[in-house]
Amino acid sequence: MSVLVTGAGGYIGTVLVPLLLEKGHQVIALDRFFFGRDNLQRAIDGHQVEIIRDDIRWFDPNILEGVDAVIDLAALSNDPAGELDEVKTREINHQARAKIAKLAKERGVKRYILPSSCSIYGFRDPDEAIDETYAPNPLTAYARANLAAENDSLPLANDKFTVVALRQSTVYGLSPRMRFDLAINGMVMGFFRGGKIPILRDGTQWRPFVHVKDTSRALIAALEADSKLVNGQIFNVGANDDNVMIFELAERAAKAIGVPFKYEWYGLPDHRSYRVTFDKISNTLGFKTSVSIEEGAQEIYKALVDKVVDPDDMRTITVKWYKHLMYMQDFLKETEVNGVIL
Ligand SMILES: NC(=O)c1ccc[n+]([C@@H]2O[C@H](COP(=O)([O-])OP(=O)(O)OC[C@H]3O[C@@H](n4cnc5c(N)ncnc54)[C@H](O)[C@@H]3O)[C@@H](O)[C@H]2O)c1
Repeated sequence: MSVLVTGAGGYIGTVLVPLLLEKGHQVIALDRFFFGRDNLQRAIDGHQVEIIRDDIRWFDPNILEGVDAVIDLAALSNDPAGELDEVKTREINHQARAKIAKLAKERGVKRYILPSSCSIYGFRDPDEAIDETYAPNPLTAYARANLAAENDSLPLANDKFTVVALRQSTVYGLSPRMRFDLAINGMVMGFFRGGKIPILRDGTQWRPFVHVKDTSRALIAALEADSKLVNGQIFNVGANDDNVMIFELAERAAKAIGVPFKYEWYGLPDHRSYRVTFDKISNTLGFKTSVSIEEGAQEIYKALVDKVVDPDDMRTITVKWYKHLMYMQDFLKETEVNGVIL
């Protein structure tokens, strides 16, 4: 298939794209490349990918001609990024993605996959493990935008246009565009830097986790599945056993990397907490995760110790980087003369 991947230069995109190529799909990568083009270039390692640097709000719809499927990853990608600018979060994560889904249908694209998030469940009683039929309870601008994108894209499904929404767990693991603003990755980095695992207060909140390779495999499963099984459907992506309370997660991460369990608290109490079931994706698509939380923590720690990942790369903390870009834009405007700095 010819697959348009938006946000292809991101944390998930740079793992997904090589997997798509391995499976024989052609990839068109559309991204602003806020985190640089180098991550995707390294990921594709000389393989043929059409790269388009553009914004999903304003891109030329002609690029959808001849495309078979869209995997629409581009977004301001977590809750804090959403709080950075609520209006832009809505424009990008909701309106632009809804527009892509609509344009894709008009241009004869056969499948649209929306990588959504389990964060739309917000807060649920920890005694109940929730499935896709539970009423969402989005608590942040990011979660509300994901839900609105689901609500606008899923009704477009018909017998010629397959639409699937995947509610991904919190992702972890190594990626060419590394993110240390995700729970497991950040815990390992915190220990690497300061000898203590940072834990977001109050530690009793539940979250499901999925490795970046596994969530990419789930996106490919949704791409390749018989339309009858997935059309108009929502799937949670993860594994039942990988719902973990945050304090326990920190203990497990320390044990996995073989270090003493020392920790420090940060942040205000987190009101998001949800335990999720993944029976639907397992029963419908036979999807099973392949990487454990322990293996994920170990690969990140090893990459830091072996200097494969630069712990000082500012781009790995998403919101900090977006803020830095905006600051630098103003700064450059102030300093450049005749279009040059020096
Ligand atoms: N990583 C997770 O834990 C997680 C969990 C659930 C859902 N998701 C969702 O998966 C998707 C990808 O997440 P990620 O972790 O790879 O994030 P990421 O921030 O690493 O990647 C997002 C990519 O989108 C691009 N982008 C952002 N705005 C754009 C715009 N207006 N036009 C074009 N490109 C734009 C960025 O340059 C970046 O390369 C997002 O939709 C995110 O909400 C991620």
